[in-house]
Amino acid sequence: TITPGKFLITPESVRNNLPVRGPDFHKGKAGRGLLIAGSQVMPGAAALSGEAALRSGAGLLTLGIQAGVTLPLPGACREYMYRLLQVDDGKLECIPLQGYDAVAVGPGLGRDHAIQWEKQFNGYAGTVVVDADGLHQLKGHITKFPLQTKGPVVLTPHPGEMAMLLDCSKEEVEGHRFEKARELAAMGYYVVLKGKNTIIANPDGSLWVNTSGSPALSKGGTGDVLTGMILGMILQGIGLVHALKAAVYIHGACGERTEHVQEAMAVTAGDVINEIGPVIRHLK
Ligand code: APR
Ligand code: MG
Repeated sequence: TITPGKFLITPESVRNNLPVRGPDFHKGKAGRGLLIAGSQVMPGAAALSGEAALRSGAGLLTLGIQAGVTLPLPGACREYMYRLLQVDDGKLECIPLQGYDAVAVGPGLGRDHAIQWEKQFNGYAGTVVVDADGLHQLKGHITKFPLQTKGPVVLTPHPGEMAMLLDCSKEEVEGHRFEKARELAAMGYYVVLKGKNTIIANPDGSLWVNTSGSPALSKGGTGDVLTGMILGMILQGIGLVHALKAAVYIHGACGERTEHVQEAMAVTAGDVINEIGPVIRHLK
């Protein structure tokens, strides 16, 4: 049920708030993003997330990836810049963040090399998006982190990651999705609780519920695609909640659209990326 403070994400609301590229547009206006992702055994997560960010309109994207990781990356790997991260004593090197409007961290990153949360993001005024292994690594800092950064922080857990963050069972998350999204948001986060009818919760307790989506999305890598889309939308400066709503809605609509030409079971995360452009065009 939709009660006060709870809203549906409709195609109209997304359409009316999409980024616009006028004739004088240039890439600097579409933001500079940093994606810290990928590892030796999960380089594809970085590839999917990065390509999704570019397909969603990111102007300039740097991929921060551990030095020595081989990148069998298809497609959009040609369009990234790279920042090779050293690992020392189990810690991931910190990257200077001046010049980056937003940072997404986590897809395929692994948990072996510790993100130095405090040092890496202390005083950062841009938006930070944390997903997947980034969420696992953030767990021990969950109450402090919003105080260390100056900008907004977005967390994008699936129900299992939400349960891990809140020390409860996945069943409890599934049974109380609105309450759990609000509980995490109250710690000072923008929360994207994934699954059928993804929920966006902001720190003041407002909730938005997605109306698009498809079981075609239930395959490894589609979450990495969503993280990239969120980064891409944030970078275009339409406002954080509009960016989250647009990415979540369009991601779901891409899932629906993949089913026009193939069976849900056959859909891959790469197929979802290929629908981003067509879905946005269709929305407009
Ligand atoms: N209906 C609508 N949307 C769905 C459905 C469905 N039936 N099934 C999945 N989705 C959507 C979710 O809402 C979410 O946006 O697909 C996406 C899946 O994201 P994740 O669960 O994060 O999955 P994945 O991309 O495989 O994650 C890769 O990172 O988070 C870790 O544990 C995860 O190791 C895995 C890796
Ligand atoms: Mg995931």
